[in-house]
Amino acid sequence: MASQAKPDLSSAGTVVGARHVAIIMDGNGRWAKKRLLPRIAGHRAGVEAVRRVSRAARDMGLDCLTLYAFSSENWKRPAAEVADLMGLLRHFIQSDLDEFHANGVRLRIIGNYRALDPSLVDMIEGAMARTAGNTGPVIAIALNYGAQDEMVRATQHLARRVAAGEIAVEDIGVEAISAALDTADLPPLDLLIRTSGEQRLSNFMLWQAAYAELYFTDMLWPDFDADALARALDAFRLRDRRFGGL
Ligand code: IPE
Ligand code: IPE
Ligand code: MG
Repeated sequence: MASQAKPDLSSAGTVVGARHVAIIMDGNGRWAKKRLLPRIAGHRAGVEAVRRVSRAARDMGLDCLTLYAFSSENWKRPAAEVADLMGLLRHFIQSDLDEFHANGVRLRIIGNYRALDPSLVDMIEGAMARTAGNTGPVIAIALNYGAQDEMVRATQHLARRVAAGEIAVEDIGVEAISAALDTADLPPLDLLIRTSGEQRLSNFMLWQAAYAELYFTDMLWPDFDADALARALDAFRLRDRRFGGL
């Protein structure tokens, strides 16, 4: 298939091939533990890595970078850590929105963010509305995100439309389901990275990862940087994506 031909490896400097990269940002706690610091210090360093990697993704010409920031299962953590994470997130959106906007970034939040604290919901919706008309890359932050929850919400949405007589059962196919997911208007996922050595998806983008390339690194998230992203993209370029064909 012409559209999936191998990218030109000679075009150093710009990303050819991967349009949409997603990262399971794991290992903040272990990064802190190694330094005898509290877990929150690891999360703070993780925010710095988010800044670095968002800038790198822009510079490298990605269309979309999706970052797993808080899962629907992370509520199982101690209340104090959950509060720290929500506080960091709130602060990050406040402090970095201007830079995103100035660089033409569209900020998106995926996940069931509407279930969060109303003041956070307002801030998120304001940030998304402010950057919606930008034409640069999308930075999508997965917040209170779980792929199973996303699929449940999409299924309920489609079932409601059937019940209302807006669509027929037969209209529900791959396209209709994709369009009902939080990622409806994002490009197809090309590369899924997980840091910290764990080799599992932890309920992240299960539908979207159907044909994504997977890349696992032992690096802890707070250590991740532009070079590490470039290495992942180099590895991606060497993959032979067949999508079930030959
Ligand atoms: C990733 O780091 C951040 C979130 C899941 C919010 P962790 O907090 O999971 O760090 P580890 O896995 O305990 O090292
Ligand atoms: C996945 O990391 C979630 C995020 C990175 C936000 P976890 O640390 O929560 O994953 P598990 O519990 O090790 O599977
Ligand atoms: Mg973890």
